[in-house]
Amino acid sequence: MPLGNLLNWLGSSAVFSNILRRLVENNFSAQKRLIREHLLTAPGLCAGDAKILDMGCGTGELSHLIPAKSYIGMDFFWQHLRHAARRYPDRGFTQVDGRAMAFPSARFDAILVVGVLHHMDESTVDATMTEIQRVIKPGGRVLVLEDIPTRAWWNLPGRLIHAADLGAHIRPPAVYSTWIERYFKIDLQFPVLSGFCDYQVFVLTRKLF
Ligand SMILES: C[S@@+](CC[C@H](N)C(=O)[O-])C[C@H]1O[C@@H](n2cnc3c(N)ncnc32)[C@H](O)[C@@H]1O
Repeated sequence: MPLGNLLNWLGSSAVFSNILRRLVENNFSAQKRLIREHLLTAPGLCAGDAKILDMGCGTGELSHLIPAKSYIGMDFFWQHLRHAARRYPDRGFTQVDGRAMAFPSARFDAILVVGVLHHMDESTVDATMTEIQRVIKPGGRVLVLEDIPTRAWWNLPGRLIHAADLGAHIRPPAVYSTWIERYFKIDLQFPVLSGFCDYQVFVLTRKLF
């Protein structure tokens, strides 16, 4: 089996990809810090009934950072959701496609999107951003962390993890900014290295009008 196919096959296993991601991403310490600093500080989140959507939650690896009563994890891949529900039984998970979210408009105070857009082609990104804009409250906070091409020439592990990743659309930051700006005000954006993996961080606010 060629190396690319082997890595893809291993990457499709929830257990294997979680072990691999924890190793190469330093136990998600960068993501955890960014969620604490840029998502959980959003205005309105101290209200007891605040709701936070983890869009494309996968196996729920980041769900424990968000208070159980606020958390809703959604993904369209039921095998990931089953894994998430077993591992984090006190968190809510639901099977929903990002392109057509079965949530009322302005339902969420904040939305987290980590490593999801690079699994989507352009029309899927557009449909998903339209839905995120619909379900976030006006003034609500959206935190997007998206895989970008490996920046350092020496970063061979980073290139290998991209080869194992099932996302076929790893794009430069400027491509994401252009799309995102159609829907949101970008309050802040910067690159970050999570272990060996490069991400671009976008802190967004829904435009009021
Ligand atoms: C790399 S995983 C990231 C999981 C999680 N956010 C994390 O950081 O651990 C990407 C997830 O996006 C989900 N996904 C991709 N396209 C989707 C869509 N159209 N609707 C819902 N989920 C989607 C995949 O099923 C997968 O679980």
